[in-house]
Amino acid sequence: MPIELYRDDRHACLMFTDLIEEDGQAVQSNQFLIVDSGTGAVIDPGGNLAFNELFLGMSQHFSPQKLSYIIASHADPDIIASLDRWLTSTPAQLVISRVWERFVPHFTKVGKTEQRLIGVPDGGGRLPLGRSELWLLPAHFLHSEGNFHFYDPVSRILFTGDLGVSMMSGRTAQVPVTDLKPHLPLMEGFHKRYMVSNKVLRLWVAMARQLDISMLVPQHGAPLKGPAIGQFFDWAESLKCGIDLFDDRNYQVPTVQINGRTMV
Ligand SMILES: [Fe+2]
Ligand SMILES: [Fe+2]
Repeated sequence: MPIELYRDDRHACLMFTDLIEEDGQAVQSNQFLIVDSGTGAVIDPGGNLAFNELFLGMSQHFSPQKLSYIIASHADPDIIASLDRWLTSTPAQLVISRVWERFVPHFTKVGKTEQRLIGVPDGGGRLPLGRSELWLLPAHFLHSEGNFHFYDPVSRILFTGDLGVSMMSGRTAQVPVTDLKPHLPLMEGFHKRYMVSNKVLRLWVAMARQLDISMLVPQHGAPLKGPAIGQFFDWAESLKCGIDLFDDRNYQVPTVQINGRTMV
């Protein structure tokens, strides 16, 4: 069952947290459906594991033939590997960074993305959706080279892809976090390795602080709400990550043997 992050007469934001069975192999992921005036967009619909349930969930709000967009924050498998099925089952256009527009056709059968792809320039933009719009905000290198976040001015939710994520079960991810401190151990390791640098985090925080945000909702783990939003900005601004932490010790010719499934 999806969580309703927001709803009014013509607009709704739904979050699916548990479409992927927790068998330990695939990381927990959230998928999002924005509904506005009889149409909608799926944000970061994920891989084939999530397709059926998300498609069914969407059908309860409007006909799949009314889906306007499949929106991808970046091109990772947990974001958009189900692209071929979405393009087959709906008339929606894929919205993704120009950096990835010539790479994502590898997820589909030949010719499937023709006339179906909106390549977003690095500066982002405002995308009409029903009677509203979604703001496509630059979030490059957080973590992907061509990366966008999505701000919904109706619900004031900022969808942040892999930024702000935490590692937890789908059930736990349904409960928004309001105090960041006890939540940090679930976030820290991921951000230190997957985010590219403190410089980019600071640039992003300076942009994000200008928005009126009701909730910051990542693609893995729980949404951040209330005081946790400002606490997250403070934490991200001071976090050393990615290339800040890498030096010559990380680039040595390896001597470790890799045996079968486990590493010694
Ligand atoms: Fe990713
Ligand atoms: Fe992800």
